[in-house]
Amino acid sequence: MAILIDETKRVLVQGITGREGQARTRLMREYGTNVVGGVTPGKGGQSVMGVPVFNTPREAAEALGPIDISVLFVPAAGVKDAAIAAFDAGVKLTVLVPDRVPVWDAMNIAAAARANGAKFLGPNTLGVLSPGRGVVGMIGGRAESARQWFKPGVPAGVGIISRSGGMASSTGYYLGQAGVRISTIAHIGGDAVLGIRIPEAALMFEADPQTEAIVIFGEIGSTQEEELAGLIRDRKVTKPVIAYIGGKAAREGTRFSHAGAIIEGGRGTHAGKVTALRDAGATVVDAFGELPGAVVDILRNNKGKSLMSESEKNAVWHTAVTQIEPNRVAVRGYDIADLIGKASFGSAVHLILTGSLPSAAIGRLMDGILVASIDHGATPPSALAARTVASTGASLSSAVAAGIMSINRHHGGAIEDCARQLKAIADRAAKSNIAMGEAATQHLAAMKEAGERMPGFGHRYHTNDPRTSRLFALALEAGVDGSHMKAARAVEECFAVAKKPLPMNVDGAIGAILADIGLNPVVFNGIFMIARTPGLVAHVVEEQSREKPMRRIDPVNHGYDGPPPRTL
Ligand SMILES: CC(C)(COP(=O)(O)OP(=O)(O)OC[C@H]1O[C@@H](n2cnc3c(N)ncnc32)[C@H](O)[C@@H]1OP(=O)(O)O)[C@@H](O)C(=O)NCCC(=O)NCCS
Repeated sequence: MAILIDETKRVLVQGITGREGQARTRLMREYGTNVVGGVTPGKGGQSVMGVPVFNTPREAAEALGPIDISVLFVPAAGVKDAAIAAFDAGVKLTVLVPDRVPVWDAMNIAAAARANGAKFLGPNTLGVLSPGRGVVGMIGGRAESARQWFKPGVPAGVGIISRSGGMASSTGYYLGQAGVRISTIAHIGGDAVLGIRIPEAALMFEADPQTEAIVIFGEIGSTQEEELAGLIRDRKVTKPVIAYIGGKAAREGTRFSHAGAIIEGGRGTHAGKVTALRDAGATVVDAFGELPGAVVDILRNNKGKSLMSESEKNAVWHTAVTQIEPNRVAVRGYDIADLIGKASFGSAVHLILTGSLPSAAIGRLMDGILVASIDHGATPPSALAARTVASTGASLSSAVAAGIMSINRHHGGAIEDCARQLKAIADRAAKSNIAMGEAATQHLAAMKEAGERMPGFGHRYHTNDPRTSRLFALALEAGVDGSHMKAARAVEECFAVAKKPLPMNVDGAIGAILADIGLNPVVFNGIFMIARTPGLVAHVVEEQSREKPMRRIDPVNHGYDGPPPRTL
């Protein structure tokens, strides 16, 4: 777990078409954040890097479904209206990046959040980042650097709460250098009126099973650190708290960097905060440079799981696929010994490609897809290529690789291409508020006009592909029947009334089903390769054991002499 942001959260970007909105959308997506849509009034219908833009958060929520977090990159004067519009659309967390938001507006936002049971981070926040899982806002800059600096809190990590934007990243960086994993870094913002403050963020970390300790970069002004001390005293925060408080040298009445960092009437002094926290049992370091060492000491004393081993600390690059330790192999976090015998191959393929184990029914469907594509006789280009290379005396690996290399746009590639066209049809139906059949008719007409063929329909051999109907039936049994499958049926109906009926082929069916399961189309061709490899191995081994080297392989004229039809 982590707090506020992880890979499951559906994120909206308000101000997505602006300079910062566009740049940050790219960076957030590169880091893995699930950005589902954007909003800029008057720019609905456009798209930014493939992300659809809407005129209002409500329109976005109506088209895309519920949105978890909205991050704002709109000019300060528009923040109040934009945040309230997000709350009205059912968004439960807004991240208010802009600075110079008027205090009165921030108070109005707070009232609207309360009325809607929602929360907000900021204003004037760099946002929140959960290493390896997602970022909302601007923490970490380039995805590559953020991956390098902040190590995921798996199996555990420390939570960072910072009142300074720059020091949020720096604290994460120096903790990483000291070998400490991080669950989430939250910059709460520097303004006088804030949404989520230190005490509330600390309670979230307290409730997060993945967080082992809480690190605070505090500063003078406000009563946030004193309130945290109260929570520690009352045993509402029981995890170790390690803090640094900036602004020791500031005198009363001097504003120290942020609007919220001001000592007034003796409240919010450096000494007062340090004493309150220490009296409550927290560790407070005197210099920022002592913070990482203090965190490491406390974790070590507690046998903390947030500490990295030496080899992990020295790693120059990372993978999130499989973790290897002496006597332990974990695929996407699951011990391979547990998976063996419990997870089917289809489920394991789903796991390794998406990071999550599917339900039993989806696992069966994945198995069905892999079985459906295992082989299609000796005539497809991949089998012919593999056999041809095998006949030269090449090794098994070279011959199978030759077969794999022939899987491209026109062989196996229709799975991905078809899924993309089906999505375009479903989007057209949703956007124009028309029936799927009409959207399919319009889309096919536009493709015909442009001289393009609809991939995934028609077959050079079968008129009724036996794999297609079986896979669709299996998908329905698994409760899968989303917009892609509906669009596929609509296309089939359009073609059925045309001069030459073009039934859906196995590529089209698999593309529609995989897209409705929610897999990323970039792996579709890969799934076909995974499925077809056993068939290629069988062809290569047969070629090498039965046939003469360098024979002339007739691509069509061959017979079958294997077992007669049998039943299961
Ligand atoms: C918010 C901020 C990032 C915007 O800067 P910007 O991207 O350069 O501004 P732009 O004018 O290019 O873009 C703003 C976009 O919001 C859009 N917008 C305005 N009101 C909007 C609303 N209610 N909803 C959605 N979008 C809106 C604008 O139309 C504009 O898009 P456009 O250019 O396509 O018309 C900037 O004002 C800011 O506050 N920067 C400092 C942030 C910071 O450092 N915070 C953390 C401190 S630690």
